[in-house]
Order: sequence, then C-alpha cells, then structure tokens
Amino acid sequence: MPENESTPAQTGLENLLHETRAFPPSPEFAAQANAKPEIYGQAADGPAFWATQARDLISWKKDFTETLDWSGAPVARWFADGQLNAAYNAVDRHVEAGNGDRVAIHFEGEPGDTRTVTYAELQREVSRAANALAALGVEKGDRVVIYLPMIVESVVAMLACARLGAPHSVVFGGFSADALRSRISDAGAKVVITADGGYRRGKPSALKPAVDDAIAPKDGAEASTVEHVLVVRRTGQDTAWTDHRDVWWHDALESADVQHTPAWVDAEHPLFILYTSGTTGKPKGILHTTGGYLTQAAFTHKNVFDLKPESDVYWCTADIGWITGHSYVTYGPLVNGATQVIYEGTPDSPHQGRWWEIVEKYKVSIFYTAPTAIRACMKWGEEIPAKYDLSSLRVLGSVGEPINPEAWMWYRRVIGGDKAPIVDTWWQTETGAIMISPLPGVTATKPGSAQVPLPGIAATVVDDEAHEVPNGGGGYLVLSEPWPSMLRGIWGDLERFKDTYWSRFEGIYFAGDGAKKDEDGDVWLLGRVDDVMNVSGHRLSTTEIESALVSNPLVAEAAVVGAADEVSGQAVVAFVILRGEHAEEASTPEGSATIEKTLRDHVAKEIGPIAKPKKILVVPELPKTRSGKIMRRLLRDVAENREVGDATTLADSSVMNLISSGLNTPS
Ligand code: WT7
Repeated sequence: MPENESTPAQTGLENLLHETRAFPPSPEFAAQANAKPEIYGQAADGPAFWATQARDLISWKKDFTETLDWSGAPVARWFADGQLNAAYNAVDRHVEAGNGDRVAIHFEGEPGDTRTVTYAELQREVSRAANALAALGVEKGDRVVIYLPMIVESVVAMLACARLGAPHSVVFGGFSADALRSRISDAGAKVVITADGGYRRGKPSALKPAVDDAIAPKDGAEASTVEHVLVVRRTGQDTAWTDHRDVWWHDALESADVQHTPAWVDAEHPLFILYTSGTTGKPKGILHTTGGYLTQAAFTHKNVFDLKPESDVYWCTADIGWITGHSYVTYGPLVNGATQVIYEGTPDSPHQGRWWEIVEKYKVSIFYTAPTAIRACMKWGEEIPAKYDLSSLRVLGSVGEPINPEAWMWYRRVIGGDKAPIVDTWWQTETGAIMISPLPGVTATKPGSAQVPLPGIAATVVDDEAHEVPNGGGGYLVLSEPWPSMLRGIWGDLERFKDTYWSRFEGIYFAGDGAKKDEDGDVWLLGRVDDVMNVSGHRLSTTEIESALVSNPLVAEAAVVGAADEVSGQAVVAFVILRGEHAEEASTPEGSATIEKTLRDHVAKEIGPIAKPKKILVVPELPKTRSGKIMRRLLRDVAENREVGDATTLADSSVMNLISSGLNTPS
C-alpha cells in the first residue's frame, strides 16, 4: 500500500465492529414484503436474473435478445439490442395504464408554497419541455447541463432530456461558476437549464449569475459550447439577460405542444453524465446508459424500500445534483409509478421540525436520507420530531456514508417508532444503484452495517492480494461481476476509467472503500481508503481543494485532509504554507483570521461553499516522504487531536514537531 494511503483500521470506525444487536423484520412486515428470502436463490443464475427484472420492470419498444456482453470489459453492454425510452418508462406508460390521476410529485417549496403534479400533468410538462428543447436545437446525443434548485422543473428537465435522447449532466446548485464552467466544457453542453434562483434558509439565492459567468468568454479558455440558456422563474429576483441566448422556461413551454413522441434509443444510449470527485483535481464525468441503469434503479427502489405504488408516499431528501437524486428521486420512483415528496429547502427552515412536519402532512411512509442529517436532528433534540405524528413511516433508509450505531438506534427509535426497518444502503455514483443493503422483509438488520450484497450483485471484501477475506477479516470492498447499472466509463477518458477502478485488482472493480466482514459474513463499510473525503455525504477530493488553495496568491503549498466530525462525518481541514511575503501576516490572531476567511471564501468561489475548509491551519512545513508525497495520515492525526503516528518514512522527521508546536492556539 502506498505510504500516503490510510488503512481501514485508521478511519476510527473500528468500534462499529463490537455491535451485536440485530432486529429481525416483524412477521407482518415479512408477510407483505415485495422481496422474499427466495429472491437470493433466484438471483444465483447470474445475468438471466437481470433479464427477468428488465422485462418485468421496464417497458421495451423493442425487446432484447442478448443480456450481457462483457467482451469489451471493463465496458459492459447490457440488453444491447433492446430499445426503450427512459421518460416514457417514468411517465407515459403510467398514464396509458390508467394511472394518470395518481400524484407523481407533492412539491413543498421552502417558503411554504406547494404544488401537486399527477402523472398526466407530468406527461404534459415533460412533453412540452422536450418540444421546447428541440426548438432550441437540442437533438439526440447533444448534452444539456442542468443547474437548478430542488423544484418540480428539475425532474421535468431531466425527463425532457431523456425523452429526446439528449444526455443530461446535472450540476449541484451549490457548485460555483468555475466548477460549472469546467463541467459544461468537459461535457460540451449545447444548452444549460437553470433558474433565476432558489430559496435557501428563508432567502432567495441566485443561480443564473453563475451560469452567465461560466459561459462568458475567458482568457485562455475556449469559447463556450453553450448556445442557449433556459431559465426557470422561481424567485422572481432581478436577473441579467442576454437576448437571443437566454429564454424563459415558461415562455418556451407555453408555446410548446403538449404532445411529443419519445426518441426510442438503444439500451446502451447515454442517459446522463454526472461529475464526481476522484483522487485527482479533475472531476470525473461518470457515464450511465439507459436500459441497465433503469432496470437496476427500478429493481432496487421496489425491493429495498418495499414500494407499494398504490399506497406508499415516498420521500428521498437528496438533491438531484447527486446520484441519489438521479436514481431515487427521478428515475427509480417514477419508473415504479410512485407518489413522492420533493422539498426545496434545508431541514431547519424555518424551524428544526420542518422535515417531520412534511412527513406528517403527506403521511410519508418511506423515508430515505443521509446519516449527517440524522446526526444533526439528534443534536437538535428528540423533542422536535416528538411534536409530529410520524406513525405513517414504515421503512427508513440511510445513504452516503457509514451510519454510526448510535445514530442508527436514534433513527429507529425516534423517527421509526421502534418498528420501521432501517435499510443502510451502500453504493456510489459509479454503481448507479444500491449494491449492498438489507432487504427490509428478509434481513435481521444490524445497527451500522449495510450487511448483504443485493440479489444479483457480487460484492466482497479482499486483501492486498485480491484474496477474499474470511469472516472476521478486513480489507477492500470490490465488485467481482458486472451489474446492469454500472458506469460505462468516464466521459472522454477511457484510460482514466480503467486506471481508477480496474487496475488495483486484476479484472475486478475496486470501489475505494475499506470494509470488514463480521462473523456472520455481513459487510461493514469503514470509509474511503483513497484521497476522497465524505463531508455530509458529499464527495470531495483532497487534491481538488488543494489546487483551489494554491491558486490563491497567499498560498505556497497546501494539504487537505478529512478529519472525523461529529455531525458531517468528515470535515475539511487544510494545512497551508503561506508565500514568504505573506508569512508575517499570520503572526497575529487578527492576521490569521483574515487569511483564514480569505482562503475559505476563495475555495467557495473556486469549487463551491460545500468545499469550504472548516479549519485552515497555517504551518511552516508539510510532512513529506522522500519521494515528495504528502503524508496526509499524519496531518489527520493533528487535525483529530491525536498523538501523531509513525513518522519514520518522512524525509525530514522533525517536520511534525514543527507543525504541532505551532498549533497550540486552536482556531
Ligand atoms: C461513497 C460514494 C451513493 C449515493 C451517495 C454517495 C460512501 C455511500 C454508504 C453507506 C458507508 C457509504 C462510500 C462510497 N457511502 N453509502 N451506506 N455506508 N459508506 O455517492 O458521492 O458517489 O459517494 O460514499 O465511501 O464510496 P458518492
């Protein structure tokens, strides 16, 4: 293992493994569950199991004859000669089946405005939007960037692209203009869909200015590929306008026809590109295609959450800017004909009971959120959820990072009334859909463990030599067989795709997570083993933040680590060496506070507020190996106030004393 990597044991989650509680499903739940124990046996026949799911859950314009073609490994082809359309599957077919009056979306805006959209209305909106995009020149294969708040139009925009066979690339609204620019340019997008702004903590927060910035001519950059910007009016705030280029969404949709024939595409046609952080500074455009992705999104949504589309009200709190919003807000639930809640704002606007008020109001029965949110609610106190009637909840989900047993128990007791099963779902942007999770009517759940690979998924834990570890052993999480919703590559960079995921172990997918198997063979996730951080369930790259820091004239060198944090899981802590001419400025408390603020704002501008370091420590040196690699593990020891570990491979072993001695004043 390279010396700057951390082992799973160093991630501080070892205490998880002393957990012995287990909660079997109640007989009533098990009896009514979609997934029964036999499903694991049925999945044993390999790809044929997925062919059955694809035909059961998805409507095909043209059926497929071949299930899996792995001859071009590691790029898989699933159901390749089949044809379908994702928007038709998510919307039209439910209307055709007589369910047009079923509510697809209960929208709750942060200021309290609401909107209810049935499947029939959704069909009209999506068709109009598809016609509007086509009128702006969007054709099958063209890329469209979506930069929107969490509003109904976000889902409509994604489906309108899918209807045309134009891959979308959603960029989270919290990313900066610079981050948006690089994603637009990497994807070569023709159109950007945005809004004047969205509501955030009681105030309108502008979005359009970032788009204007991201596509404006810039020295040294090629002219933007963007021809039009389609703008949703959400807040009504003043918005700068470029005639001919900018078009209001409501104008474009008003004049558009409510009928649109979906573009039937091959199963392997790109559905979307979603950028995520890797171990280098450049974000990776994860490519997902249509047939396999939809099959596994629908399968997992139905079985992991035990969805009954006629009676459940489902709510996933994720933003569409992340993969969770793609698979478990837009595609999975709608393909399954679910009724779902979409909420625009933060959990504490205008008060800390907002989420639970929404659960009570819509009688939410399935709720899917992230451990960081659960921990924030724990901190606010259980008297807050206690004020609301949460008895409608029957399944609870967790995603994004390991959930500590304490938070799991709180979630079960306070939110789930000690009865709703919790499904801790492990997956990634790259996997497209949930891979490891209990099945709520089958598995006896254990607080803190994602436990079992889903039926049809070959996930295991291996050691350094790729040997599967015995029960009780620890190592790396890998996926040894292709799965339908796997990424089909990194947009424009096949080599990076092979390098990143397929070179660590011959022929198997390396997820980047440390994991352990307990005595029952259940899988416990232990956090990333690479230079990727997980802050509030958001994935950030240490290198990307480091390059943002050194792009500021104050900074000579920077090293970033993810330090354990009670609420956000990990927090960004940066160590910086100032350029000589600025070194003096940090010597007074005011001076270092100013520097810290300048640099935090700088990172927010370069990447986005989510990447802002929680702490910035000015240091005289950074710990490096003889080959010049920064030993982040030692910096993590400092950031987590631990005794500094083995520093013998440092080129200069006195560096750590120098760093530690300068940090007596907590910032
Ligand atoms: C990384 C993927 C999957 C959607 C949200 C994040 C971590 C995710 C769990 C879980 C432990 C988890 C992993 C993974 N992760 N879910 N249930 N238990 N860790 O997607 O941004 O692609 O991040 O999130 O480290 O590799 P992502």
